[in-house]
Amino acid sequence: MWLPGGMSSRFAPRALGVEPFLAMEVMERAFALEREGARVVHLEVGEPDFPPPPAAVEACIRALRAGETRYTDSRGLLELREAVGRDHERRFGTPVAPERVLVTSGTSAAMLLVFSLLVEPGDEVIIGTPHYPCYPNFVRVCGGSAVLVPTQPEEGYRLDPDAVRRALSPRTRAIVVSSPANPTGAIQSGETLRALAALGPPLVSDEIYDGLVYDGAQVTSALELSDGAYVLDGFSKRYAMTGFRLGWVIAPVSASRPLQVLQQNLFISANRFVQYAGLAALRDGAPAVESMRLAYDARRHLLVDGLRELGFRIPVMPQGAFYVFADARAFGNDSRELAFGLLERAHVGTCPGVDFGAAGEGWLRFCSAASEASIAEALERLGRALPVPA
Ligand SMILES: Cc1ncc(COP(=O)(O)O)c(C=O)c1O
Repeated sequence: MWLPGGMSSRFAPRALGVEPFLAMEVMERAFALEREGARVVHLEVGEPDFPPPPAAVEACIRALRAGETRYTDSRGLLELREAVGRDHERRFGTPVAPERVLVTSGTSAAMLLVFSLLVEPGDEVIIGTPHYPCYPNFVRVCGGSAVLVPTQPEEGYRLDPDAVRRALSPRTRAIVVSSPANPTGAIQSGETLRALAALGPPLVSDEIYDGLVYDGAQVTSALELSDGAYVLDGFSKRYAMTGFRLGWVIAPVSASRPLQVLQQNLFISANRFVQYAGLAALRDGAPAVESMRLAYDARRHLLVDGLRELGFRIPVMPQGAFYVFADARAFGNDSRELAFGLLERAHVGTCPGVDFGAAGEGWLRFCSAASEASIAEALERLGRALPVPA
């Protein structure tokens, strides 16, 4: 490699400070075991085992055949942005103009755009913990730092607005909320979100698990509370379209243009033919979403009951998403060692709780989007492989 003036190669500490995403690390090790012939039960990554809605697959194939293979407007196809706006209005009653919608290559790309827009080196972003592992890393990549505010299982993982107020500083640029949340499945009440929205900094609201709720739980969108909120959402979870890499951000009007410019530079646009799949999913996917939701509800009970029988402590029933966050300290305090050990010994993939912050150490997260047969198989294998509870 050519280096000017004999400078030695150096990677940016900001990049090297990014932690590995342990759910992916477990999955990648599981893939290696599978290449050697192992049959792994995958409960490590948040991925539905259902196929996407057939209409989405068909639309994608049709688009490819019709030559829909070029860039789109950086903000996404206008029809899709209109459909996203209508879909948000259908779910929450808040009208959303297409000017506020930017289509992205997954919710992850939406996060990068939004944090790039909001965070300068030295800035802070408040995040309730346990948290989705990547949030602090997005902030870190932008030169900022995450200020983690603990939430407690005994309080249903409520993000306490008073605790958040105490964590505010002149450098606070955003408050991240996610409801339903990964890894806890917790839902923040409308009242809590309203109090958080009133604190000042914009809410960055990850609504990717909206629609996946149980026992009649209600979700409030941050947009119902504040025009200044950023909503991150996508097709991965609700529509079982993880590999399509398609999502969106709904932003305040004042942010639309700078986000568009960032998208032009960083990504140009989301995949064109995939955007047609998204359009079809929004138009025709609702029945598939509802039948998946009902299946996740049943799987959630199977997994929670089975894990409790094995000796895991699950203080609260998850109300949404498709995860069970379980205290595994009866089996050891090092969640990384436990998860990788179970993968090697039992060929069951689980995610170390420490991925979700220090408060998750000693816990494991299980994805309940696997089939009932897979969950039953995993429970049986775990029963054989787990150390005797302490
Ligand atoms: C809370 C949360 N946000 C975002 C993502 C990433 O979504 P996408 O596949 O749309 O990039 C995940 C994936 O697990 C998630 O759990």
